[in-house]
Parts: sequence; structure tokens; C-alpha cells
Amino acid sequence: MDLDAVLDHIDANLDASLERLFALLRIPSISTDPAFAGDCRRAADWLVADLATMGIAAESRPTTGHPVVFGKADGPAGKPRVLLYGHYDVQPVDPLSLWQEDPFAPRVVTREDGSKMIVGRGSCDDKGQMMSMIEALRAIKAVTGSLPVPVTVMLEGEEESGSPSLPGFFEATKDELKADAVFVCDTGMWDKSTPAIAMSLRGLVAHDIIVRAADRDLHSGQFGGPARNPNHVLAKILADLHDEDGRVTIPGFYEGVGEPSEAQKANWASLKMTAEDYLGPIGLAEPAGEKGRTVLEQVWSRPTCEVNGMSGGYTGAGFKTVIPSEASAKVSFRLVGDQDPAKLRAALKDFVRERVPGDCTVEFIDHGMGPAFRVPDDWRMLQVGAEALEAEWGKAPAMVGMGGSIPVVHDFKHTLGMDTLMIGFALEDDRVHSPNEKYELSSFHKGMRSWARVFAAL
Ligand code: BES
Ligand code: ZN
Repeated sequence: MDLDAVLDHIDANLDASLERLFALLRIPSISTDPAFAGDCRRAADWLVADLATMGIAAESRPTTGHPVVFGKADGPAGKPRVLLYGHYDVQPVDPLSLWQEDPFAPRVVTREDGSKMIVGRGSCDDKGQMMSMIEALRAIKAVTGSLPVPVTVMLEGEEESGSPSLPGFFEATKDELKADAVFVCDTGMWDKSTPAIAMSLRGLVAHDIIVRAADRDLHSGQFGGPARNPNHVLAKILADLHDEDGRVTIPGFYEGVGEPSEAQKANWASLKMTAEDYLGPIGLAEPAGEKGRTVLEQVWSRPTCEVNGMSGGYTGAGFKTVIPSEASAKVSFRLVGDQDPAKLRAALKDFVRERVPGDCTVEFIDHGMGPAFRVPDDWRMLQVGAEALEAEWGKAPAMVGMGGSIPVVHDFKHTLGMDTLMIGFALEDDRVHSPNEKYELSSFHKGMRSWARVFAAL
């Protein structure tokens, strides 16, 4: 393959690539909110049509939730088949008032120093990243007349809401999914100038916990004292989840956790990340969490428990003297090593039930779950990825862990025996999941070029 011609093509057609990305970014495919189900379908249809223009026959396959865009294309005989996985769904935009512009009116903003960023929900996570892989293939097809390898695409619409329909899709599609390697572009760079390959992902288990007491909201003058206050009950339970040293107190929680290898520890130490460097950019200074662990250890190799949301009683403007009839919290765990999500889910429920006093009831709503994932250090494809990244960025990639989760990656491995090459170009300040999400134009542009190099090397 004439790689230089492909890279030139990417450079010369950057505006057209951006236009296509913008068309996708304009569709508010928020997976968690049923009000946007139609938009999720539209995003899937848009991708099907877009893939068709580059000779990949894909279809929008219905699931019990949002569709999966699935397609296959042939490539040169003897080359490995690559499964491209990405997600076209995005996180909700709230609080909308903090966005400087409409989250679904994407635009390029030029900074004073001339650098440019793409702003809009999904610009990074994951539409911008996902399109960088697709656009790399498009450029190769345009220049050489064919795809570089046989390709399977699987673009999901529920990743941001825990992929509830994926097990069913997997079961039904297993035989069609089989490929030699999976490529995912949904992770981050080490820093602005250093690319990275993600070697691990944390797993996730999430729940709503709802505590109920009286059969109605009460006047806190009339009932304060004798009546149970679900806010107090729940707050106490949530506080009990951690001890003084920041460790999770649920019995059995640390089973299967394991310690990073000496080689991993040495690699992480060589990255020289301090707590100040990690926390400074988000306005924090004091490391919280488990005592005696560096920030990288905490995020890449330790399990955590976080309360992601709490509500109960009156939270509007002004004041209302009420004892609410119910209080609820959203609690999630990040998992590492061989921690078993189902066991943890059960252990959390026991932990909570033991602490709920008489006159109160507790309800759990289960959300997504999946175990942690690690790429084998000696996987051949890591070398291919590393060389491609070094050629594009002039620097060897950092081999990093990821604190976040991409649940399907574990299924690829454990259901189908496929390992996943995780290369992404997100930066720490991209505000993924937050207002004013952005993606550096250079991430998009050099991301396409990086993927073109990876494909060329195959
Ligand atoms: N793309 C993210 C993971 C990520 C976050 C990579 C930040 C790089 C930087 C992914 O889409 C994500 O957010 N996953 C969720 C999964 C969950 C909702 C099941 C996560 O980790 O919270
Ligand atoms: Zn993502």
C-alpha cells in the first residue's frame, strides 16, 4: 500500500471528513433517555448509509434496545479480519445551562494560539474517535481501490448506558462476529504529545438503591423525631461503604483484586505522574481514596465504589420542612483483576439490607455490569499499534491502564477469544460526559493518520 498517498489523501480531505463527523454529531443519540430513541435509530441509519458509500454493506440490526450497526466487508485474502467496535450513543447533556452553545450544533473553535478543537456532545466520546477509524479506512479505499483487510463493523448504541441489549445481540450474532482482532478507538492519549495504548479497562457494576419509610412525605415539625427519615438512613449506609483509609468495607470486596506485576509498577513509575499533576487541572490538591496508593495505581489497578447521584426530599429553590417518604442513590463499583460482578452485586445488597432499620424498605434497580479486562502483554498486535503510533507522533506510546469501562471488550475476549487493540486520542481536558465536550482537531486528524498506519502495517 502506498501509505504516503493515503496520508496525503487524509490531509487533503480533512474538511470533508469533518463534515461527515458533524452530520453525525448533530444527531442527539442519547441512549439512556427513552425520549431520544428515535435519534438513536437515526444515528444508526446515518452510519449504515455512510458505510455504504465506502463499500461496507452494513445494516441497523434491531435489539431489545437501540440498534447495533453491523456489517462485513471482504478484503485481501490472507489478511487478518479486523472487527471495528465503536459506539454512536452519547451521554446526556445536563446541565444544559453550562454549555456555551447547543451541544448538538458542533463547530470548530480556534484558540488564540491557533490550535483548533471540535466542540459538541460526542465530539470525542465516541463519535469523533469512532469516525477516525472509519475515515482511515475510507481514505485507504479511495487511494488503493480496496479495503486493506477484511473488515467487520459493530457500532453499538447503548455503551453509555451499560449495554443492556448486548448480551442478546452477542448470543444471536456470535458466529458472525468472529475476527482475528478487535480495534477500539474510545480511550485516551497519555498527554497532548504522547499517544497511548490502553492495556486494561476496569469493570463496572451499578445500581440504584431506594430506601422508603412512611407512605407519604411528612411535615418535619409534626413527625420529626418519631418518624424515620430515609435520607438519614441512606446517608448512613453510603457513609459506611468506606473506612477511614478509603477502603471499601463490603465483606469480600477485595477478593480477586491482585497486585500489578513488578514490570507494570516500573512502567507506571516511569510515567512520573504525581498527585498534583493529576488533580491540579481539575481544581483539586489532596488525594482522596485508598491510602498508600499512587493516583495511577488507584485509577488503573484498584477497585472503587462511588456514589454517582443522590436524591430525596426537597431540593428545589428555597426551603421546605419535609421528611421525605423515600431517598435514592446511584452507586457504582469499578472492578479490577478477577473480581466477580455478580458476587459484588449480591454482597452490596446484603450489606445494605443488614443496615436498613424496621419500618423501612429497600429496593434495588440493577444497571450494567461487567468484569475488568487486560490485554496480554505479548499480543503481537500491540507491537503493530506501537510502531504505527511512534511513526505518526514521533514518540513511543505509553502503555497505560484505563480507569473507565467498555464492557463489551471483556465479552469479545471471553465469549469469542478475541483480544482488543485500544488506541484513542482523548485528552484529559476533553470533558467527556461533561458540558462543553470537545475533541482536538489534531486528535481527529492525527487519529485518522494513526489508524491508516495501523491498517497499512497489517
Ligand atoms: N469512552 C468512555 C471510556 C473513557 C472515558 C475512555 C474517558 C477515555 C477517557 C466510555 O464511553 C465510557 O464512558 N464508558 C462508561 C461505561 C459505563 C456507562 C458502562 C464508563 O466507563 O463509565
Ligand atoms: Zn465512550
